Amino acid sequence: MCGIIGIVGKEDVAERLVDGLRRMEYRGYDSAGVCTVSGGELIRRRAPGKLSNLVLELARNPASGTTGIAHTRWATHGAPTAANAHPHATEHLALVHNGIIENFRPLRAELSARGRKFESDTDTEVVAHLVSEQVEAGKSPQDAVRAVLPQLRGAFALAIAFRAYPDMLIGARLGSPLVVGYGEGETYLGSDALALAPLTQQIAYLDEGDWVVITREGAQIFDKDDQPVSREITTSGASAAAIEKGIFRHFMQKEIFEQPTVVAQTLRSYIRQVDQSVALPQFEFDLSGITRITIVACGTSYYAGLVAKYWFEHFARLPVDIDVASEFRYRDPVLERGGLALFISQSGETADTLAALKHCKAAGQTIAVVVNVPTSSMAREADLLLPTHAGPEIGVASTKAFTCQLAVLAALAAYLAVKRGRMSRAEECDLVAQLLETPAQLNAALAHDDEIAAMAHLIAPARDVLYLGRGQDYPLALEGALKLKEISYIHAEGYAAGEMKHGPIALIDEAVPVIVLAPSGPLFEKTVSNMQEVRARGGKIVLICDA
Ligand code: M6R
Repeated sequence: MCGIIGIVGKEDVAERLVDGLRRMEYRGYDSAGVCTVSGGELIRRRAPGKLSNLVLELARNPASGTTGIAHTRWATHGAPTAANAHPHATEHLALVHNGIIENFRPLRAELSARGRKFESDTDTEVVAHLVSEQVEAGKSPQDAVRAVLPQLRGAFALAIAFRAYPDMLIGARLGSPLVVGYGEGETYLGSDALALAPLTQQIAYLDEGDWVVITREGAQIFDKDDQPVSREITTSGASAAAIEKGIFRHFMQKEIFEQPTVVAQTLRSYIRQVDQSVALPQFEFDLSGITRITIVACGTSYYAGLVAKYWFEHFARLPVDIDVASEFRYRDPVLERGGLALFISQSGETADTLAALKHCKAAGQTIAVVVNVPTSSMAREADLLLPTHAGPEIGVASTKAFTCQLAVLAALAAYLAVKRGRMSRAEECDLVAQLLETPAQLNAALAHDDEIAAMAHLIAPARDVLYLGRGQDYPLALEGALKLKEISYIHAEGYAAGEMKHGPIALIDEAVPVIVLAPSGPLFEKTVSNMQEVRARGGKIVLICDA
């Protein structure tokens, strides 16, 4: 995921572009770049590594101009070098891109055959050349973009600056998010409302296939058939303050500590405290007749779905199919008309999950979406919108988004169980009481911060770590392993504890810490047996358990 921003402004924009990038560093952070338009020139500055490198580069070589675009990159095609950093430019234009152009190889081959020279290994540079060819053939920027967009396959949000048009930018989106921000005599493009938070709160969300021309006076939006359209301008709730670190060392730590508050906030919209019952917001669908749920998501959101599978099956006695979105569409899943398809996503923009959602919609499924960004593409496609209220997730690693997803999914499981006559009134009250206790329990867990930090020091030297769990703790083991890999670059695997003896046990010795999730309950004794197996091979056990 990358972040893009563009400004057609009244004053020099370079500093504000960099500030916008700072707010989007969570979308990617291995290189960054800026290009302004001034005096008939494109002034481009790029740097590999952290944003601070770009700041230094701009201090050495300032970029003036009241119109500009900028990008923070998370490399997918081509190493994180200055040459691969965006913006990519030709003599006529500079362009930033978030997404993946899937057909860039044949396009690049055709462009090369026509004599175009490439400076980078990226998929993005082909788009710069394609638009440039059209401009060189005498087309206006609008006609050039209009001619190129249908040639692109994959996902993109684009912002393009033209050397000969210093007061205009063109943006386009398909499969990746792009918003238009309206200011006082200025107009903006951004990957999300957060990036534009200090500039404006007035935001229009572009639809799939839209493209837009922005000038100081405003924006002219066209749909995928090139027809002029208007998109509603909403007042974004994104505040600049919500994306500050405050007293915390980093955003992930801040978000971990926000969990009691945001989980309570989320539960409040799913629980009626007056009668201790579960209720879904704005609910119009009769779910009592559904016979199967298909859950689709990626990464952490997928693991939240895996936990929910245990709950839907146990409490509501509903069979659940679950798959990662990147596999789902390609295995030709059997979807009976009238089924419920449930998508889980923090951002609501993950390309594979969005594509799977569209696949299910076309197959006549009712679409339920558990999502944190209520203005996202997935939220807008939902028949049944189940928001999490986690607030902006800036830390790349999901923490509070995951626990808020679990809160919503637990409420949904209880709701379905009640509707299907599988949960008595007394059981519902009991479950609601337990859910209402979770914020306090999260606080109690966070009070162990120092002990957890001490354990982290023990684990830090390891090259490999195993996470074990049974039942609903098995997906938690998978999520734990994902988090350790992502944050510490330590190889980690999550296993169902009972699977240990079927192969992975060979990995265990004194150098391999094993983190066991084993709360008290019917599966505890069985997991203790698996711990004995680990001990017998000298493995170090870290047990996460209740008293
Ligand atoms: O925004 P989404 O929940 O759809 O994102 C899906 C995954 O990319 C995401 O959950 C990812 O695995 C986590 N951020 C990892 O911590």
